[in-house]
Amino acid sequence: MPKPTLLQTRALPEAVEARAARDYAIRRPEGPDRTLESAAILAGAEGCDGILCAAGDGLDAATIGKLPDSVKIIATFSVGTDHIALDAAKARGIPVTNTPDVLSVATAEIAMMLVLMCARRAGEAERLLRAREWTGWAPTQLMGVTLEGKRLGILGMGRIGQELAKMARGMGMVVHYRNRTRLSPAEEAGAVFHGDDDAFLAACDVLSMHIPGGAATKNWLDAARIAKLPRGAIVVNTGRGTTVDDAALCAALESGHLRAAGLDVFTGEPKIFEGYYSAPNVTLLPHLGSATLETRDAMGFRCLDNLDAVLLKGAPPPHRVA
Ligand code: DGY
Repeated sequence: MPKPTLLQTRALPEAVEARAARDYAIRRPEGPDRTLESAAILAGAEGCDGILCAAGDGLDAATIGKLPDSVKIIATFSVGTDHIALDAAKARGIPVTNTPDVLSVATAEIAMMLVLMCARRAGEAERLLRAREWTGWAPTQLMGVTLEGKRLGILGMGRIGQELAKMARGMGMVVHYRNRTRLSPAEEAGAVFHGDDDAFLAACDVLSMHIPGGAATKNWLDAARIAKLPRGAIVVNTGRGTTVDDAALCAALESGHLRAAGLDVFTGEPKIFEGYYSAPNVTLLPHLGSATLETRDAMGFRCLDNLDAVLLKGAPPPHRVA
C-alpha cells in the first residue's frame, strides 16, 4: 500500500523528520523555513492526506474551506491553535490535533527566565557589556529587585501556569492566580485564587500571562488593566502576543508605572511593535517557549501519533482539539 502523503509546512527536528519520512510521503514547500501563507498551503495540500503545520501558518477559515477533500487531518506542532480556524475545520469534518503537556515545563522555564531577567535587569546588563561600556563594579549600578517574598500573579493556571507556580514557590515567591475555574486544593498547593480581575491585578508584583490567543483575549492587558497593577510591577508574556496592547504596555514602561516587561510572543510575529526595540526595560525573546531538544522531539512525536491514528490506523487521534 502506498504511504499516505503529508504536507509538512516546516522543517522539524531530525528524529521527527526521520519517523515522518519512514511512514509518509512528505511534501515540503521550497524556500526559507518560515510560516506559510494560505496560497502556499493550498498549493501544497493538493492530493495530500494530512497536514502537519505549525504556529503562525495561515489556516484561516477561507483556506480551510478550500482544502482538497483528500485532507483527513490537520496536526499542529504547537499547543496553541489560534492560527487554525477550528470552527471551519469542524464544519469540514477535518479533525485538528495539538501537542499538549510536553511543552509545559520548557515554557514555564522561559517564563521564569524572563521574570528573573526583568527583576535583575539582565538584558540591560548584557547590552552594557557588549557595548564595551562597563566601567567596573559600583554599589548603585543596575540595581534590580529580589523575588523572594514577592507576589507572582499567574493569569491562566493551566499546565504551564502550574509548572511556573512550582518554580516560583521554590524561589520563595507567593503565588496568586486568575483562572476560569478554581483548581483543587492539591493543584492549588497554597496559591491564592482570584475570582475577579481587579483583586488579582492589585496582587501582582509580577504578572505572568498564560492565556491563549484569539478574539476573546485580544488586548486583555490594556491601559485600564495595567493601571490596576501596583506601581513597579513586572509583566511577562509567554502565551500569545495578541493578549497585550503593545502601545499601552510601552507607555507604562516609559512612564515608570511598570518596572520591566519580558516578552516571548508578539502580535504579528516576526515583526514586532516598534516601541519595544528602544525600550531599555523590556527583554525580548523570539518565541522560544518550547525550544528545547527534548520538548521539540516530543512535540513532533505527538503530531505523528495523531497522524498515525487517523491515516495509518483509522482510529481517533489522541489529542484532538476540534
Ligand atoms: C505553542 O506550542 O503554542 C508554542 O507557542 C509554539 O508555537
